[in-house]
Amino acid sequence: MKKSELKRVLGKWSLTAIGIGAIIGGGIFVLTGTGAYYHAGPALAISFIIAGIACVFAALCYSEFASMIPVEGSAYAYAYGTIGEVFAWIIGWGLILEYAMGSMTVAVSWSGYFNKLLKMFGIKLPDWLTQDPGSYTGDGFSMNLPAFLIVLFVISILIRGTKGAAKANNLIVILKVSAVIFVILAGAFFINTENWTPFIPEVAKVAEGETLKDAYGWAGIVSGASAIFFAYVGFDAVSTQAGEAINPKKDVPFAIIASLLVCTVLYILVSLVLTGMMNYQDFNPQGKYPDAIKAPVAYAFDIAGQKWAGYIITIAATVGLISVLMVMIMGQSRIFLGMAKDGLIPSIFRKVNPISGAPTKNLMILGAVIASVAAFTPINRLADMTSFGTLFAFTMVCIAVWILRVREPNLQRNFKVPALPLIAVCGILINVYLMINLSIQAQLLSLSWLGIGVIIYFIYSRKNSKLNNPS
Ligand code: ALA
Repeated sequence: MKKSELKRVLGKWSLTAIGIGAIIGGGIFVLTGTGAYYHAGPALAISFIIAGIACVFAALCYSEFASMIPVEGSAYAYAYGTIGEVFAWIIGWGLILEYAMGSMTVAVSWSGYFNKLLKMFGIKLPDWLTQDPGSYTGDGFSMNLPAFLIVLFVISILIRGTKGAAKANNLIVILKVSAVIFVILAGAFFINTENWTPFIPEVAKVAEGETLKDAYGWAGIVSGASAIFFAYVGFDAVSTQAGEAINPKKDVPFAIIASLLVCTVLYILVSLVLTGMMNYQDFNPQGKYPDAIKAPVAYAFDIAGQKWAGYIITIAATVGLISVLMVMIMGQSRIFLGMAKDGLIPSIFRKVNPISGAPTKNLMILGAVIASVAAFTPINRLADMTSFGTLFAFTMVCIAVWILRVREPNLQRNFKVPALPLIAVCGILINVYLMINLSIQAQLLSLSWLGIGVIIYFIYSRKNSKLNNPS
């Protein structure tokens, strides 16, 4: 069994807050309009339930592993201990899509919210300082400076150690959960129940980007679940922190499941309130409110004459996304730490600073790459790849938990997935289904990414791995 060199400072509630800190971000405030208009209509709440169920299956499987293999590394470490090095490598490589690439897109959306916040105070940064060169239409140099700086800020917190980062995360989580509850309670006063009828509109074709999508009906509900899946990304980050948990075998499973349940309930309520406040057809970008789909929740309050609510949402999202970024970068650094311990990536990623207990160099390298890509490339257009990487990892964890139960039925498990293999099979099917419902572009690019990973494994990692070089 691998040992953790990190400091064990995280209790049950801090771990739960880490899960919520990673889950609630821009997704719920942004994707709900797309989900309602292009996919599910008022039945968006059912899409949230379906995506939530997909996550619960995976969460149970993650929990069983976390109760057996309580080290950093998450799905990578679980695969390493069960289905072997090459599969573990591919999963670790896929997790880069979830964590590092997720961090890049979150940094860019943070910049968007930050600019909005500045505008509320009458300040406007020049376009060349807020747009990457691929998106900038003017001449000369440009970069997304806020995205760059927020990553450096988060890194500066993380290198001081997990205890401080967890404290900051706890505060942010209180703020953003309060904001979401506020949206639900305040929004409930403006619900017009007529907007919920029909709850599942008839099948229709609506144009999304260049393509026509099948929307509404049950097919729309399921494709809606894929479209909003990003809003759930993050709960598995709890499992990357197992090396820092005081009582990982018990508390990590608790935190994974608790954070997911809290967010699922909040998300279902937000989507019901939103589609009750505003008719799903009003999110049409060619309709009377062309901008509503970009910030649906704030817009719904605007239309209800409650502009101030939009301010609160903008503030909550701006602050709230900082903790998403913090947990995602922290998660990526711990996965790299696990991979470096096994010799699959260079050893610089495994050095832990004895005073702060943080993998400082690992974090600095990650910070430099994430900040640069967020500032200089149009990475946010590829956000769906984050969902792909996450769904891929979920599927693999469901497979791995089943394999280990068959191979090692007598290993001590503090938490056991009930009704296995049924839960694992359902988890695999639903996660694969959501994966194939993502955009074709995201699927192709993600598969290419995994292909590059396989090449790197055979050129570098296999030769350097501890398994192949026991000396
Ligand atoms: N679930 C996170 C968000 O919605 C990644 O921003």
